[in-house]
Amino acid sequence: MKSVGIGLIGTGFMGKAHALAYGSVNAVFGDTPDIRLELLCDTPTDQANKMARQFGFSRATDDWRGLITDPKVDVVSITTPNNMHRELALAALAAGKHVWCEKPLALTLEDAKLMARAAADSGLKTMVGYNYVRNPAFSHAQRMIKDGAIGEIVHFRGWVDEDYQADPNTDWTWRARLADAGLGALGDLGCHLVSMAHGLCGPVQSLVADMQTIHKTRPLSDGTGRAAVENEDTATALVRFVSGAQGSLSTSRSAWGRKNRLAWEVHGTRGMICFDQERMNELQIYQNSGPKGEQGFKTILTGPEHAPYSNFCPAPGHQLGFNDLKVIEAADFLNAINNDTAAYPDFSNALEFEKQIHAIAESAQLDKRVVIEVGAEIQTIC
Ligand SMILES: NC(=O)c1ccc[n+]([C@@H]2O[C@H](COP(=O)([O-])OP(=O)(O)OC[C@H]3O[C@@H](n4cnc5c(N)ncnc54)[C@H](O)[C@@H]3O)[C@@H](O)[C@H]2O)c1
Repeated sequence: MKSVGIGLIGTGFMGKAHALAYGSVNAVFGDTPDIRLELLCDTPTDQANKMARQFGFSRATDDWRGLITDPKVDVVSITTPNNMHRELALAALAAGKHVWCEKPLALTLEDAKLMARAAADSGLKTMVGYNYVRNPAFSHAQRMIKDGAIGEIVHFRGWVDEDYQADPNTDWTWRARLADAGLGALGDLGCHLVSMAHGLCGPVQSLVADMQTIHKTRPLSDGTGRAAVENEDTATALVRFVSGAQGSLSTSRSAWGRKNRLAWEVHGTRGMICFDQERMNELQIYQNSGPKGEQGFKTILTGPEHAPYSNFCPAPGHQLGFNDLKVIEAADFLNAINNDTAAYPDFSNALEFEKQIHAIAESAQLDKRVVIEVGAEIQTIC
């Protein structure tokens, strides 16, 4: 087994999640390749030095280009804001490095296509941070659907809501600017919902959507005035899956009280499965079987029967957390590199997800139904 040199760019929310994942993946799984935490990049240099010490990296730099071309770095983790993903990922692939990039892959669909093509041409491994599809509860829902537990899938209803932009007095950030963030709630949150809907019901064939920007301007943090919010706070789509099933997808970053309500229901001809990320260790299932008077929703708590839960903990109901999903993602990516297998979701899978969020925005802007050009069938996890 080869040892893999890691280069991490960014030390914010996701930088820390990647660092924690690299720090524990070998201890949790035991069969992943050895890793070396070679080089960490952030700006300014003091921040890079401080975080390299905190995360256990050997060296630090404020120059991402130097990190990407460093001969001891085999894998580049990109956890910078969205507007840097394309340039960094293309440079890393060109330098022969495997790439684990945070979602969304790119600001525009054209850029996402470019990146997926570059990844395919390179023969290198890629992974995109759609971490919620790594949840053992999610894989179990996929297995139950495949095994016919709720019959034929006829309807999907999904929401992904947070309230980080609900307060009109919250400061303006890069997330409100098209050139920095691309899409708003769709690029930040909606893409996660799409990744789950895709894994449960397959690709979307067409959709019709609407969206709105609730708070048109926000105060600048330095007190010098207000700046425009250029992207959407909410979006909702009615979708038709390739399978024929119908569905609705809705997202808001201005939904008071919702902290990470990434929730969905899959309706089948014989029952229903429900999930809510705010209770990420549970599935609810209703099956139309047995005496009518005793029918009702059953709660399934994740445990050792739901791989890879037991790699973290031998006892059921003790619960995994958000950062554990990143450890599972890291294990899949490192094993894909070591065994020369496909990682999921890679750049081409992410492109299929992101076609859907861009189609939602296009439909809302043009006020018409949009048909999606569906790519090759993609693997799911179970
Ligand atoms: N997978 C998920 O669940 C999830 C959750 C949150 C964010 N994200 C994604 O992660 C990415 C980062 O978001 P975040 O919330 O971690 O942002 P953040 O602002 O917390 O962190 C961004 C980091 O990038 C660094 N950075 C910026 N410019 C740099 C440069 N030129 N060189 C080196 N470092 C630079 C910043 O200093 C900071 O450390 C975004 O694309 C976001 O959509 C994913």
